Amino acid sequence: MTELAESPFNQNIGKHPGEPNVMEPALLADPFTGYGELREQGPVVRGRFVDDTPVWFITRFEEAREALRDQRFANDPKFAGNGNGESPTSRMLEMMGLPEHYREYLAGSILTMDAPDHTRLRRLVSRAFTARKITDLRPRVEEIADTLLRRLPDHAENGAVDLIQHFAYPLPITVICELVGIPEADRPQWRTWGSQLISVQPESLREAFPAMIEYIHELIRERRAALTDDLLSELIRVHDDDGSRLSDIEMVTMVLTLVLAGHETTAHLIANGTAALLTHPDQLRLLKSDPELLPRAVHELMRWCGPVQMTRLRYAVEDVELAGVRIAQGEAVLPLLVAANHDPRHYADPARLDVTRQPAGRAENHVGFGHGMHYCLGASLARQEGEVAFGKLLAHYPDLTLAVEPDTLQRIPLPGNWRLTALPLGLN
Ligand code: HEM
Repeated sequence: MTELAESPFNQNIGKHPGEPNVMEPALLADPFTGYGELREQGPVVRGRFVDDTPVWFITRFEEAREALRDQRFANDPKFAGNGNGESPTSRMLEMMGLPEHYREYLAGSILTMDAPDHTRLRRLVSRAFTARKITDLRPRVEEIADTLLRRLPDHAENGAVDLIQHFAYPLPITVICELVGIPEADRPQWRTWGSQLISVQPESLREAFPAMIEYIHELIRERRAALTDDLLSELIRVHDDDGSRLSDIEMVTMVLTLVLAGHETTAHLIANGTAALLTHPDQLRLLKSDPELLPRAVHELMRWCGPVQMTRLRYAVEDVELAGVRIAQGEAVLPLLVAANHDPRHYADPARLDVTRQPAGRAENHVGFGHGMHYCLGASLARQEGEVAFGKLLAHYPDLTLAVEPDTLQRIPLPGNWRLTALPLGLN
């Protein structure tokens, strides 16, 4: 728990009794129980974000989807009305000790945009990042998985291999870097930057953020000189029917988002999912006996132990009533995906892991990838990587075991992120 112990935000914990702060140790250690209890208090519950911002937690499945669909809740932090005119973006830059110039990059992210800018950017990116591209990628994902898995025994120490270090991370980072066009030699650096960026440590952010931005600007310069068939070249080429293109800053932020969102999260889906299967031998047996269950199993693992447990904050652009609660203009809402995905109003026996669970009616019957216009752009890639990872892992090592007691597995104490620090396995 070192990162938590050193976090500058610790001082906010417990400042407002009755308004749980997302940094509280109990919520970090067991968000399923902690946020589950809040869900039973009501669908819209008062709480506090990392930096003590007051937020409305949205705790239930239907209400979380409703809030994520409702365009009166904006992603752009300029709508945050905290009364002192200071936006969260400015606070973040100040916290990182970065000049205002970097504001453009934060503002240029698809995740902090609203319609119509978001619509335009998403349309352009979707032209480059097509379903066809992802389907075509499958044999290559399988090949990367096979190579990594064949090498796993070389990394054994005292009979155990850390799956995160040697499979769960390298697979998605290799895939997304190949897709985007980041050279192999630079990938370890990206992994370091990725970990620095998701930490809540200002010094790490201050170091990683400018370095990544400079790197991508340079990569764009190189690609412009010689376009290839990678995604970056595609992002340089794409334009709307009216000729509008991505600006350099939009492109930098998009590459940054794709690479970071595209590996950290997927790595932890693979790790969480493997740990879940190994601690539920009946489900593991079912999956091994019928690999056709893989798509459904990935769906269920995303619901049961997805790595992203809350979305970004949204801000009410006007007064909104949600489930009978009045959310005033400028106030923040925080959809709790973890609570929604275990809502007994929506799932029978939600705590039970069931790889045969039938998505009820809807194509996507969980909110682990979000919902609405910011629904995860990489969901089909992540699902595909999950299917390949679990399928190949069990095919290569059918007698896989956990090399430690399940209750000794450690989680990274970051709000909204359900991530193991290591997953030591016996390959047998
Ligand atoms: C958005 C989760 C994999 C790219 C999101 C959101 C969630 C999410 C919850 C919505 C955030 C919000 O509404 O505030 C996940 C999980 C993944 C995963 C759990 C893996 C298991 C990926 C991959 C990529 C990716 C592989 C890219 C290759 C994005 C992008 C957005 C996004 C670009 C922003 C979309 C927008 O704002 O329109 N993701 N993601 N994600 N994700 Fe993912």
